[in-house]
Amino acid sequence: MDKIQQFLNPEYSQSFGASPYVQQMGKLTGLLYDHGWDERNGGNVSYRLTAEEIKPYGDVHARLRTIPIDFDASALAGSYFLVTGTGRYFKNVASFPQRDTGLVQINPDGHSVDLFWGFCDGGLPTSEFSAHLMTHIERLHRDPNQRVVMHCHPTNLIALSFTLPQNEKLITRVLWKMHPESIVVFPEGIGVLPYMTPGTTAIGSATAAKMHDYRLVLWPHHGIFAAGDSMDEAFGLIETVEKSALIYTTIQNQGGQIRAEITDENLQELADRFSLTPKAEFMHGETLAQMLAK
Ligand code: 13P
Ligand code: ZN
Repeated sequence: MDKIQQFLNPEYSQSFGASPYVQQMGKLTGLLYDHGWDERNGGNVSYRLTAEEIKPYGDVHARLRTIPIDFDASALAGSYFLVTGTGRYFKNVASFPQRDTGLVQINPDGHSVDLFWGFCDGGLPTSEFSAHLMTHIERLHRDPNQRVVMHCHPTNLIALSFTLPQNEKLITRVLWKMHPESIVVFPEGIGVLPYMTPGTTAIGSATAAKMHDYRLVLWPHHGIFAAGDSMDEAFGLIETVEKSALIYTTIQNQGGQIRAEITDENLQELADRFSLTPKAEFMHGETLAQMLAK
């Protein structure tokens, strides 16, 4: 079907701006802003879409421009991504989705994307696009339903990266022991990078390498990356980890004395009850009191 037929066919006449994908993007970026996790232009989200999913929309079939990318994304050739723009404020996305987000398709050579909708004032994908795309590539090996990568700046989790040793086992166990829900939501734990410069392909490949084992990766002193099979799943991972970090902060505000805790046996009982296979080496270790005394 050529472009004119597509345009005239009522089956292809819906506007992408009214699609559930754009609606969800507006809603979730608004929630991230409302939670205080995405000040100014902080944070970015990418949502993988298939050709089948965008087909019904009449206004996404003409290439608007081509945008170069600085690494090889050919493993995603042909895939579409609805992605937030660099420098765009999450508080505005729901009101101006066609300006603050864009729908791009990865080109076969993997070094550019074609824009089919959005970024109407000349905008570009997030400066963390390499970390997003490399994460999608890595997580698609683990989960064919991988859809969403979400980055934000959750306050308590960032604060904790200054006060706890940057050690995956220790940070995971502290977070697991803050609330029983934590191990249920992220039984594999949380990956932790060293501090790195944002917006680089180096932090992108380091993040993706961690995504081999984890769906949550902490960027110390900066924020978090989450990967999931839906917007709700990625947001839910972040919500849960930040809730645990908030409890950690509150414990410190209450004086920091640990008098009772979720024990390693309690963690095992949770794993049994919810049929989880948590990362085995994180299941046993020091008590919370010992870990927080460091
Ligand atoms: P962008 O505005 O380029 O998405 O950057 C925001 C951010 O959080 C960088 O880490
Ligand atoms: Zn950031």
